[in-house]
Amino acid sequence: MQAAENVMQQNIVFSEQALELQALARKIADEVVRPKAAELDEKHEYNMEAAQALAKAGLFKTWIPKEYGGHSAGVLALSLIAEELAKADSGFGVAFAVNALGSFPIVLGGTEEQKKKYLPLIGNGEKFVAFCLSEKFAGSDASGLAVTAVKDGDDYIINGEKKWTTNGGIADIYTVFAVTDRTSRSRRISAFIVEKGTPGFTINKVENKMGIRGVPVVETHFDNVRVPAENLIGGREGMGFKHAMMTLDHARPGVAAQAVGASQGALDLANVYANRRVQFKVPISQHQMVQKMLADMAMKTESARQLTYAAAAAIDEKGPNPMNSKMAAMAKCLSSDVAMEVATDAVQVFGGYGFMEDYPIAKFFRDAKILQIYEGTNQVQRIVIARHLIREAGELEHLKEFIPTETQERYGAEDLNA
Ligand code: CAA
Repeated sequence: MQAAENVMQQNIVFSEQALELQALARKIADEVVRPKAAELDEKHEYNMEAAQALAKAGLFKTWIPKEYGGHSAGVLALSLIAEELAKADSGFGVAFAVNALGSFPIVLGGTEEQKKKYLPLIGNGEKFVAFCLSEKFAGSDASGLAVTAVKDGDDYIINGEKKWTTNGGIADIYTVFAVTDRTSRSRRISAFIVEKGTPGFTINKVENKMGIRGVPVVETHFDNVRVPAENLIGGREGMGFKHAMMTLDHARPGVAAQAVGASQGALDLANVYANRRVQFKVPISQHQMVQKMLADMAMKTESARQLTYAAAAAIDEKGPNPMNSKMAAMAKCLSSDVAMEVATDAVQVFGGYGFMEDYPIAKFFRDAKILQIYEGTNQVQRIVIARHLIREAGELEHLKEFIPTETQERYGAEDLNA
């Protein structure tokens, strides 16, 4: 690989279809998401009216391939929709996007029969989806799972407990990652489709969260849950970890887009407030220190947006590959760090009112934090990015001659790529 290929050269092309889907999402966000955001947050209730509006508008078809009744509109279109929804209510952004996260294992690795059976139902919005990877003792270390699936005749029997399942209870279909071979290092895990109502599959705890309170996050329990072998995703054991990683590469631009929406939503509110709030006889937007905050918030939000669109467009154009994995991690990490910073500054612009729940900005602040945690903590994103950088260092041979060899000798450092 040439050095130049380490630099993403991405033309971001917004198809007419993607822009139409974005406009539909904006309308739904304005009409049924934003007006209800505060109330549903307080009640910890899911916005079913908005989910049904998304289904009616065909927005769940976005990432579903055309052959299975979808739009084949891709990750960029998905990101545009998630951004619009999150601008109104960050929690509802994830309530939507988690359906893509849960269905990507089937889209990317499912058998033809699995795709035919499940994807049309997901696209129509008839069935909602959740993704069951994390466990109490396996969060960032996603390969350290304890939930097991044991072959029994033509079935598998699943046992154990999953943690932090977003959309749990609302979802009808769960993609569940479980250990099928304890002895293997790289082929330990397989993924299964588990349907709501399967005997032994229960939700035992609905979490009480700091933010995104409108979308349920639950513990799912599997007590001798018997699923037919045809629910093994891809029909082959041992592919689960790869499917999980490929899924996360596809889904992380969607989280980045939620973060961009959350940043823009907070910036818009702070901007409007700063023009109305008068102190020292002028709107506070006339004070240079407030102007600096607003300008910084706008610059950061726009940088995050461009990286997010580039990462999403790259996945649509080139599919799974190491560069896209790095781009997805960079977009997720930068955008969610930006969302936290922008939400914090937005509260500051609102001053004492910003700390009060009567004002909408406190919710943006509470909702922002999880963006830095879910779908891979930002520490994990930095690990992914750094591992790619270390590999890329091996491809920058031509720069070696500019680095005196004594540097290596003095510190005894080994060349990782030698
Ligand atoms: N695509 C395809 N394959 C990949 C891959 C990728 N992006 N990344 C790794 N792999 C493969 C490797 O090639 C390797 O394969 P072989 O064994 O055949 O060589 C295998 O997977 C293991 O790779 P690593 O050695 O790199 O794995 P690791 O154990 O060091 O872990 C990690 C890497 C990046 C830290 C990973 O564990 C990870 O991403 N952790 C975070 C998990 C996460 O994001 N959880 C979020 C849950 S979802 C959620 O939050 C939902 C919600 O509620 C909204």
